[in-house]
Amino acid sequence: MGSAKVQGALWNHSPTGWSIQERLHTPIFEAMLDATDVTSGTRILDAGCGSGTASVLAAARGAKVTGIDAADGLVTFASKAVPAGTFSVSDIQELNFPNDSFEVVFAANAVQYAEDSVAALREFKRVCRKGGMVVCSLFGPPEGIDYKAVFAAVKGAMPPPPADAKPGGPFALSGSGVLERLFTKAGLDVVKTGKANCPFSYENFDQKWEYSVGAGPFQGMMKVIGESALKEAIRQGCEGYTKEDGSIVFPTNEFIYVVAKA
Ligand SMILES: C[S@@+](CC[C@H](N)C(=O)[O-])C[C@H]1O[C@@H](n2cnc3c(N)ncnc32)[C@H](O)[C@@H]1O
Repeated sequence: MGSAKVQGALWNHSPTGWSIQERLHTPIFEAMLDATDVTSGTRILDAGCGSGTASVLAAARGAKVTGIDAADGLVTFASKAVPAGTFSVSDIQELNFPNDSFEVVFAANAVQYAEDSVAALREFKRVCRKGGMVVCSLFGPPEGIDYKAVFAAVKGAMPPPPADAKPGGPFALSGSGVLERLFTKAGLDVVKTGKANCPFSYENFDQKWEYSVGAGPFQGMMKVIGESALKEAIRQGCEGYTKEDGSIVFPTNEFIYVVAKA
């Protein structure tokens, strides 16, 4: 049993809000699609597809897109964004596809939410055609992420985790070589790594808040500390990046990706 039930509920809150935040990840999506040569006719699985931004980009290259996600509201949103695609609700580590179904298995900012990330990667290898490619991305190390100011502020507003809590957080798999080692554990041979900068810009704090509340981790925190405490913490996290006109820009967020041959 994976994390889909819990995660699906957290990510379902605001598909429209999340979709706008998700579009800010476009540079890492394009880098991943380039690195795996996604082109006309490529059968691609967008695992943890969210609202379907990467699926839209893959479809624009002529790929045959299949997407899965834990959140049914996001799956519905993605289906509308890519009418020619096939989208369903599923757990990332228990995929309902036969072996060798895809040339490319693509998971942007998703494996860290699996109950067992190695089990998810093994599933990616299973459904990927031999000689095909598996690509996953994450936030890179905190030094390259301006947005860590927001993560630090919200962490500071939360009660300390129980002593036996599983290590987590946005950078849990971002350390040097960590994702590569998980690929190796799953039997995937890493052939390429790379990164792409995704600046996050918001017109004002209200807009930033609207986009933020679609994110599952913030929904989880809201259940613990309440909406006003979370909003205040996010506002504090934005302070150093807020301009005189009220707009907010986090110019540097280096996402990393790892590619393997299946
Ligand atoms: C950070 S969002 C990533 C969305 C999009 N791929 C992107 O890069 O912006 C994480 C996504 O993973 C999905 N997710 C989390 N746990 C999952 C699981 N166990 N199985 C399938 N999807 C899951 C969430 O519903 C959410 O849409």
